[in-house]
Amino acid sequence: MQDATGPAKESPHQSPDTLTVTDTTAVRPPGHGVDGEAMLTAAHLSRSFGQRLAVDDVSFHVAPGETYGLLGPNGAGKTTAIRLVCGLLTADTGTVTVAGLRVSATTTVGKAQIGYVPQDVSLYPDLTARENLSFFGRLYRLRGTALRQRVDEVLDLIDLRDRGDDRVESFSGGMKRRLNIGASLLHRPRLLVLDEPTVGVDPQSRHAILESIQTLGTAGLAVLYTTHYMEEAERLCDRIGIIDHGALIAEGTSRELVSQVGQKDRITLVATGSLPAFAQACRSLEGIEHADVTDSTVHLLARDGRLRLPQVLEAATRTGTSVRSVEVDEPDLEAVFLHLTGTALRE
Ligand SMILES: Nc1ncnc2c1ncn2[C@@H]1O[C@H](COP(=O)(O)OP(=O)(O)OP(=O)(O)O)[C@@H](O)[C@H]1O
Ligand SMILES: [Mg+2]
Repeated sequence: MQDATGPAKESPHQSPDTLTVTDTTAVRPPGHGVDGEAMLTAAHLSRSFGQRLAVDDVSFHVAPGETYGLLGPNGAGKTTAIRLVCGLLTADTGTVTVAGLRVSATTTVGKAQIGYVPQDVSLYPDLTARENLSFFGRLYRLRGTALRQRVDEVLDLIDLRDRGDDRVESFSGGMKRRLNIGASLLHRPRLLVLDEPTVGVDPQSRHAILESIQTLGTAGLAVLYTTHYMEEAERLCDRIGIIDHGALIAEGTSRELVSQVGQKDRITLVATGSLPAFAQACRSLEGIEHADVTDSTVHLLARDGRLRLPQVLEAATRTGTSVRSVEVDEPDLEAVFLHLTGTALRE
């Protein structure tokens, strides 16, 4: 967990004169979008860095009260996609609309509707939580009683009211992450965009962060969330877009995505030996549809997984592989990713 000495360059807390404070509430009933339309519409976004196409013709929308997850491995294009959505990066092609307002790198109008929580924490460690929020609130032109009230509301939302007067340097990684989320809520955005907010935090803090986001989603905020943890996407997101090599390769509810895989189970073996040879041997077995190696783990996708175990273990013996553990899981998002790309989502 890094300690920031101050807000990162690309903090959502932009210079005061580029922001207007909206009098809309962050928390509004579901369905209260712009004439019932999506709160966020991203259409045909593309962006290259040199020869590398980081985001490739990506389109999706998020409704008010909906939590949409972009799920993909390291380097898939998640951060680039959301920097385009937030108007922090110029798109090569495509458009972004938030609450009916166009967002782009060169205009400020739609940006006031967005609360952006960057991948890295950007807080002042030697200020208290309340002082940090007050500072960012002033950037959003909140003053006096209105500012104090909003800071208290936000401390409640992120469940840090009792630590409000403690300096941020004394906070756990998870608490800093929650405060970072709080800083993005001061101006009552209508779309909250979070870039992997649980990376590197302990399970308890992760739970608290997910709960805070769930509460905000339930109360009507549109949420765009990126993660490479499929459990988080499954738990938090109403709909999920799977992104790989810059392209959105599938989209739907967790249930819809999993149903694409059909009745295929995931077999995970932790093993030592010549794992590529073992995976190759597995590929030729009846009922095995994918075999992929990551470090000391072999991931298989199989029809009737339990029935395939004897042949899989026999292939291990034949290739001199020593299996330390085997797990068979019913279809889940990890299986969807394996099914669609032939590689495991986890690194
Ligand atoms: N400023 C940049 N200059 C050059 N290449 C970049 C830049 N930003 C991103 N890329 C490249 O674009 C691709 C997508 O990167 P991006 O950061 O969007 O992925 P990500 O899905 O957010 O990954 P992670 O899970 O590691 O955060 C990568 O190949 C990355 O190296
Ligand atoms: Mg990223």
